[in-house]
Amino acid sequence: MKKKIKFKNFSTIGKEEITLANKVMKSGILSGFVAGYPDGFNGGKYNQIFEKKLKSFYKCRYAIVLNSWTSGLIASVGALDINPGDEIIVTPWTMSATATAILHWNAIPVFADIEPKTFSIDPKKVKKLISKRTKAIITVDIFGHPSKLNELKKIVKNKNIKIITDAAQSPYSFYGKRLAGTQSDIGGFSLNCHKHIQTGEGGIVVTNNKLFADRIKLLRNHSEAVIERKNVKKINNLVGYNFRLGEIESAIGIEQLKKLKKIVRQKQSQAFYLSKKLKNLEGLIVPKVDKKCTHSFYTFPLVLDTNKINFTRNQLAKAIRNEGLQGFVEGYTNIHLLPMYTKKISYGSRGFPWKTFKSKIRYYKGLCPVAEKLHNETFLNFEICKFDLKKKDLDIICKKFIKIWKHLSKLNTKKFA
Ligand SMILES: Cc1ncc(COP(=O)(O)O)c(C=O)c1O
Repeated sequence: MKKKIKFKNFSTIGKEEITLANKVMKSGILSGFVAGYPDGFNGGKYNQIFEKKLKSFYKCRYAIVLNSWTSGLIASVGALDINPGDEIIVTPWTMSATATAILHWNAIPVFADIEPKTFSIDPKKVKKLISKRTKAIITVDIFGHPSKLNELKKIVKNKNIKIITDAAQSPYSFYGKRLAGTQSDIGGFSLNCHKHIQTGEGGIVVTNNKLFADRIKLLRNHSEAVIERKNVKKINNLVGYNFRLGEIESAIGIEQLKKLKKIVRQKQSQAFYLSKKLKNLEGLIVPKVDKKCTHSFYTFPLVLDTNKINFTRNQLAKAIRNEGLQGFVEGYTNIHLLPMYTKKISYGSRGFPWKTFKSKIRYYKGLCPVAEKLHNETFLNFEICKFDLKKKDLDIICKKFIKIWKHLSKLNTKKFA
């Protein structure tokens, strides 16, 4: 194996973030939250400034910051007034938290397969899975590409089914003229340390619905403690959490938000450069961006057309590693095949919603064939957001990748795999 080729890690934390975080430190007020109402219910000065800036950036009526997007997902599902045993349709190609947010309310995740170009939930599959129990769809704008929201909206039209967009990986992607995440009932973004912009840990919820915003704010901050003082009438699902974001993180977020457009544009130009250089390799499918969309390129997803090549994805990934190239990962995920679903094991005190509600929903190999084939055989992800890539780094990646591809093509190794 050749020596690892090291690229600089991607970090956009600079003097601006340090200065504002220091100001918070000097103030001595690291959180402004109190589980009371009205004082402290909406957090501290920097929480509120950050929310105001997010509201104007995402052009939405409400922006709510939380200590992670996982918290945001749990609160968003709770805000929809989901009942135990209700079904929520979700994609298997996401981070596990998208689906476990459903389990937190004792509801049942129903996995719909993905479509192979954007890797997000396939509206045609969703349509077939709608039942009397379906209360919501959680779609994920995975890798930075918006999902097919118009098609999903058509499916739920005139039905009492809400849409949540998990745009954790797509903080500045456009779907038509508006930003991804802002066009469904509730949307949200992650601010964890791997994302385009970060606060270490953190999350953002956006919505135009006052009721949902109110409920999410309640769930963020120990709802039960303020229900009477706030005069909340409808209290189902309002067992609260501590999902509160600190003041230092909010200060960092304020500065990070100013950099978001520039960061995404940088990732886009890096991705377009890679696409331009690699697109002529016979059998390699570079990322395609739908006409009405833009892509944030959290990752740079590649697919192998196995009919056109005589080596396997795993051979390619191994050869890339042997060349010392970092950041290429074979496959992505198949959440529906995690043991907690296939074995229906208990999770904490919450029990087994499938058993309790005599659900016929099952999880097994073959349930999502498109996702499974991509994961097992044809998908290769380059973690473009992990590195601070300069032109010379992109040239190294392309040169090595093309060399390996041509070498494997000549070897015809597939029959020995
Ligand atoms: C698609 C997706 N959903 C949800 C999450 C969870 O976000 P967080 O880490 O902020 O809780 C992530 C984080 O990686 C993600 O990528």
